[in-house]
Amino acid sequence: MNAAAAGHVVVTGGASGIGEVTVLALIDQGATVTILDASAEAVARAEERLEGEDVLVLACDVTDEDEVADCLGQAVDALGPVTGLVNCAGIARDIPAERTSAEMFRQIVDVNLTGSFILCRAALDQMGDTLSIVNLSSASGIRANAGRVAYGASKAGVILMSQVLANEWGASGVRVNVVAPGPVDTPLIASLHTVEDRKRWTAQIPLRRYGQPSEIADAILFLLSPQASYINGHVLTVDGGFSASGMIAGR
Ligand SMILES: NC(=O)c1ccc[n+]([C@@H]2O[C@H](COP(=O)([O-])OP(=O)(O)OC[C@H]3O[C@@H](n4cnc5c(N)ncnc54)[C@H](O)[C@@H]3O)[C@@H](O)[C@H]2O)c1
Repeated sequence: MNAAAAGHVVVTGGASGIGEVTVLALIDQGATVTILDASAEAVARAEERLEGEDVLVLACDVTDEDEVADCLGQAVDALGPVTGLVNCAGIARDIPAERTSAEMFRQIVDVNLTGSFILCRAALDQMGDTLSIVNLSSASGIRANAGRVAYGASKAGVILMSQVLANEWGASGVRVNVVAPGPVDTPLIASLHTVEDRKRWTAQIPLRRYGQPSEIADAILFLLSPQASYINGHVLTVDGGFSASGMIAGR
């Protein structure tokens, strides 16, 4: 058994896509899980689907520091100290820089970067003896893909933030790592990529296909687990080879 499982793992954005599949894999391995997600609809669906499991599902906006602190307090009361955190909550736009408003830029950075930071801080306050954090970046946080001025900046920020936290918190028993997926078939990518986009991306991916959420969940569970006990501040790309060789050029 992969012993990420042994503890209480908080998964933001856990009611959809990569987060949802990660939650199912954690439950499968015996973990207790708290899902925090801002979508009331997705939360209701998750509650229904996971009825009877050792899971707490809470509506929570990761950009709201007070709400996050309150939800983590509830989670710890119900399921014990936090031993793992997976920051999957995220939003994306595929839009040229000249059509990206400052408001849109701020919103994307607020959810993807500041929201992840808020959760890392809150989990530190509620941790058990050790804490393993996995933050979701993206191939677009590593390569300068066109259309990703705000999203890419937010995801590049997630990498450096995670490495600073790995540095500052390592001595306290906290590991902080990053998974950087390429395109993965989830509701987010379905709303973002047209048929034409899929062709352009697939041509740049050495494995010539999009990833499956379970392939990202496998990497997340590995980094959470004791098998990764000496891995800290690492960025694990899970992108079919895209960031080793590819780039989406502007049109
Ligand atoms: N799907 C991909 O191709 C891909 C590629 C690279 C990185 N990622 C990253 O992986 C993560 C998960 O993506 P996904 O494809 O599963 O997306 P998704 O849209 O299927 O799921 C994201 C979840 O985050 C939640 N969320 C959004 N804003 C929130 C907020 N403010 N507070 C709390 N929850 C919020 C949504 O309600 C949703 O349930 C994201 O960070 C995304 O940027 C995805």
